Amino acid sequence: MSRFVIWVLSLSSSLFLATVTYAHEGATGIVKERMDSFAEARGQMKQIRGAIGEPDFDAITDISAKMQIWADKMANYFPEGSDQPPSEAAPTIWSDPDGFAAKISAYQQSIKALNAAALSDDRDSTIQAFGALGQSCKNCHQTYRK
Ligand code: HEC
Repeated sequence: MSRFVIWVLSLSSSLFLATVTYAHEGATGIVKERMDSFAEARGQMKQIRGAIGEPDFDAITDISAKMQIWADKMANYFPEGSDQPPSEAAPTIWSDPDGFAAKISAYQQSIKALNAAALSDDRDSTIQAFGALGQSCKNCHQTYRK
């Protein structure tokens, strides 16, 4: 493996493993559903990281297509006022709806880019796109997650 690959993979693993928070306890309804979906997305990122190691481009195409489903409906899972504990949703989601929508859109685009890179069977561009996708998770959390 090239040093760049190792760097990207270790970067993404620290990104996802270190920020694990199990706040599910006590969550109900739509808050629990979105927490579960985010937790699933974290698992899917780990699967993709593993698939890059192989590399298994079909698996990456498959998993990113599944991630797209949640990305496309995420906006419907944040009704106004659904930021009561244990939710970590930040009030900025509702005070800055355009900003939040822009982060969702960037996330959707990043998943599409990863899907396209995996379809082209090109490892370098797949790794780049994977790094960018991880960054788009982080970019949203910075402002819209407590
Ligand atoms: C557009 C904004 C946005 C994007 C993009 C986003 N997240 Fe989140 N994420 C949130 C918000 C808001 C919460 C808090 C939800 C709550 O607690 O009600 C959250 C919560 C989480 C949680 C905690 C769930 C739990 O168990 O409580 C994890 C893990 C997570 N996100 C991972 C990811 C990963 C991995 C990605 C990218 C593949 C991602 N998120 C992309 C906004 C986003």
